[in-house]
Amino acid sequence: MSKNILVLTGSPRKGGNTDKLADAFIAGAQTIGHTTVKFTTADKNIKGCIDCQTCFSKGSACSIPDDFAKLAPLLEQADMVVLATPMYWFSFPVQLKAAIDKLYSYLISKRTLKIKECALLVSGGGSDLNTFNGIVESYKLIADFLKWKDEGIVIVPGLHDKDDILKTDGLKRAEAFGKSIV
Ligand SMILES: Cc1cc2nc3c(=O)[nH]c(=O)nc-3n(C[C@H](O)[C@H](O)[C@H](O)COP(=O)(O)O)c2cc1C
Repeated sequence: MSKNILVLTGSPRKGGNTDKLADAFIAGAQTIGHTTVKFTTADKNIKGCIDCQTCFSKGSACSIPDDFAKLAPLLEQADMVVLATPMYWFSFPVQLKAAIDKLYSYLISKRTLKIKECALLVSGGGSDLNTFNGIVESYKLIADFLKWKDEGIVIVPGLHDKDDILKTDGLKRAEAFGKSIV
C-alpha cells in the first residue's frame, strides 16, 4: 500500500550527511511507490512550545505564529513520520526538537493524527554506537507514547565533514530501508 511519508530533517547543514541520508531513504521509498514530503526544520522558524494550552483555539495548531503552521497540515496528511537527524549533544538538534515539542498541540486539543508508523535516521560524529543510546531511547519513548510503530532505525556513526557519509554504507542502508517500507 502506498503511504504518505513525512521526512522531518534536523540538520542546519544543507547538503550534509543527514540531508543525504534523508534523500537516500526517500529515493528508496519512492521506488516502491510511496509519496514522500521532506520538511527541513532547520530552514524554518519554529519556536518552542510555551505550554499556553491555547492550541487550535486561534485558527491554527499553535497560537504562536511561526512555521509550525506549515508543518501541521503535513502531519495531518502523513501515514508515517521519519526523523532524519544529526545527533547534537546525544539528542535532537533544537530545530527538530522545537517541531517535536509542538506535537503537544494535538494532545492538548485531543486531536488524533493518522500517523501509525515512524523511523529514525541518525548521523553522528562518535564511533561508539552506545553514544547513540540517548537519542534512540528518546525516539522510542516518543514513538511508544504516540502509539507509532517503530519501523526501524538507521545509525551512521563516525561522520564529521559534510560528505563523510559517502565513505560509509549509510546511504545504501537508508535506501534499502526506504525500499522495505510496506
Ligand atoms: C552542535 C553539535 C553537537 C554535536 N553533538 C554530537 C554528539 O553529541 N555526539 C556525536 O556523536 N556527534 C555530535 N555532533 C556531530 C554531528 O552529529 C555529525 O557531524 C553529523 O554527521 C552532522 O550531520 P550533518 O552533516 O547533517 O550536519 C555534533 C555536532 C554539532 C554541530
